[in-house]
Amino acid sequence: MKVLVVGSGGREHAICTAICKSQRLTKLYCAPGNAGIAQLAECVPIKVMEFDKIAEFAVSEAIDLVVVAPDDPLAAGLVDVLNEKGIRAFGPKKNAAILEGSKAFSKDLMKKYGIPTAAYENFDDADAALKYLENCSYPIVLKADGLALGKGVLICNTHDEAVEGVKEIMQDKKFGDSGNRMVVEEFMTGREVSVLSFCDGTTIRIMTSAQDHKRAKDGDQGLNTGGMGTFSPSPFYTKEIDEICKKEIYQKTVDAMAAENRPFKGVIFFGLMLTKDGPKVLEYNARFGDPEAQVVLPRMKNDILGIFDACIDGTLDQIELQFENNAAVCVVLASDGYPVSYEKGFEIKGLEAFDGKDDYFCFHAGSKLEDGKIVTNGGRVLGITAKGADLKEARKKAYEATEWVTFDNKYMRHDIGKAIDEV
Ligand code: AMP
Ligand code: GLY
Repeated sequence: MKVLVVGSGGREHAICTAICKSQRLTKLYCAPGNAGIAQLAECVPIKVMEFDKIAEFAVSEAIDLVVVAPDDPLAAGLVDVLNEKGIRAFGPKKNAAILEGSKAFSKDLMKKYGIPTAAYENFDDADAALKYLENCSYPIVLKADGLALGKGVLICNTHDEAVEGVKEIMQDKKFGDSGNRMVVEEFMTGREVSVLSFCDGTTIRIMTSAQDHKRAKDGDQGLNTGGMGTFSPSPFYTKEIDEICKKEIYQKTVDAMAAENRPFKGVIFFGLMLTKDGPKVLEYNARFGDPEAQVVLPRMKNDILGIFDACIDGTLDQIELQFENNAAVCVVLASDGYPVSYEKGFEIKGLEAFDGKDDYFCFHAGSKLEDGKIVTNGGRVLGITAKGADLKEARKKAYEATEWVTFDNKYMRHDIGKAIDEV
């Protein structure tokens, strides 16, 4: 089977690593990929939003399956474009990727189908939003409707902050057209859990749980990032909580999308808040999480290509997902200054330390090959993952491995997985 993965981050490196374990793979390509992915796949210099070029490449190379990993091409309909040309693709079509692409859509869906989430109002108009905010209790959460690189969420502690937030989102258009609409949402408290799932339009299969660390600095301080580290499983996601989510959230979401004539085939990522009133949906994503994929996929035993096929063909009911009875921790090595401004182009040394070690993974997020050297090429540079018998062992091993690689301006959080000490 010839497979093309679309994307270039740590998530795509983790997906490529999982695909390489499949006996059915004959050749793997990645567009555009990065220097780490290039060790597993032939990287082709096509960007993720160059739909015609991706389709042309898939046809000319007789690709059997295209895996679309990032949110932007999914929301803009790359899977539809590929299907129209007769190319098989894994990922939701545009009308289903709206589950992530529009927060107003997903909130209305949850309300209509009784899926637990924070109370909210949608607004198309800044004046109406400002009027509404006069009588709210604080803190309150403002969300730009569309995709905003995970940055379109503002938690406002006072009325003044909220007024400023509405201005940023709807008037100054800080997040571009994503701010044409806005959701104002009740502030929830509790522990966050990321739960990824595979869906074939009707059936949903839940993967093992994970927890992300979104803030840039230790102690959950600093700005929101794409994610500075993850661990899996989450000890806070108990069997009881899983039962509630299965009844109240997961299947209901798939059924709701089918009922709206938007059958969802691909990965639904449930961002959950475990509140004192039970688990509630913070957000949906229509793709694997990053860096969640970097701790979840290394623990998965199934042939991932078989699952992708089952999602496309509607036969997921015949598959049971299996995960290793262990734990994984991923620590992101970033460029100092991320997520605001940072320098790139520094040589990354020590990567060979990971060769031949089954329990350790060095997923490349932002790297490229330059004059025969691998250099930093992004805010998030590497995801260092280790597996262990339990979370404590995995964390110890992951932090040890962070020392094996060096590059100028290397930055990481030192408290990834610290929450497990409370268990
Ligand atoms: P989102 O992109 O919707 O996941 O939001 C980013 C982050 O903002 C989440 O991971 C939460 O930490 C926080 N957040 C979003 N919505 C809420 C909410 N209603 N209450 C409290 N925190 C929230
Ligand atoms: N790590 C969060 C995300 O992928 O959106």
